[in-house]
Amino acid sequence: MGFALVQMLADDLPHLDELDVDPSHGRRGLGTALVRAVCKWAAVSGYIMLTLTTFRDVPWNFPFYTRLGFVEIPREALRPELSNVASEEARRGLDPNTRVAMEYRCETSVIRKRLFFAASPRLRNNPTPSSDYATRRFSVSGKE
Ligand SMILES: CC(C)(COP(=O)(O)OP(=O)(O)OC[C@H]1O[C@@H](n2cnc3c(N)ncnc32)[C@H](O)[C@@H]1OP(=O)(O)O)[C@@H](O)C(=O)NCCC(=O)NCCS
Repeated sequence: MGFALVQMLADDLPHLDELDVDPSHGRRGLGTALVRAVCKWAAVSGYIMLTLTTFRDVPWNFPFYTRLGFVEIPREALRPELSNVASEEARRGLDPNTRVAMEYRCETSVIRKRLFFAASPRLRNNPTPSSDYATRRFSVSGKE
């Protein structure tokens, strides 16, 4: 039905690389649920922010993410990793003027809880998600 793909641009920078919902299941809240799940995952994993790039003028892109708490990152404030994403998009033929980079600031209370748990011996002996470069996938099924 749909999926979200998160790529680590750096060890402290999860990036929502792709979000897709099968059009035959659109407008039922699946896209919103996927984005919320990724934001929650980023917060409980101890990340400070989650980024993405999207189209400025498409109703289900920039306005959609704005409603979910993402804010625009000014071009001059882009981290090099995000600038590289923008350059790669331009190289693939996307007009930079139509694109926007956005960030979601993770809830600090959730991050604090995560750091508290990470201090416990059990978690110290196990790898934490924040030390893991693997791409993460989130998916939803038809159970709405
Ligand atoms: C973006 C996408 C994942 C949204 O999935 P979804 O399951 O339809 O999302 P939701 O049901 O949570 O809809 C959220 C809101 O997005 C907006 N939206 C979604 N599809 C829309 C459409 N076709 N036209 C206008 N607004 C739309 C609406 O505001 C909608 O809220 P509403 O239904 O209450 O009006 C889906 O449209 C998609 O896969 N699009 C193609 C790929 C894409 O653009 N991905 C994001 C690129 S960064």
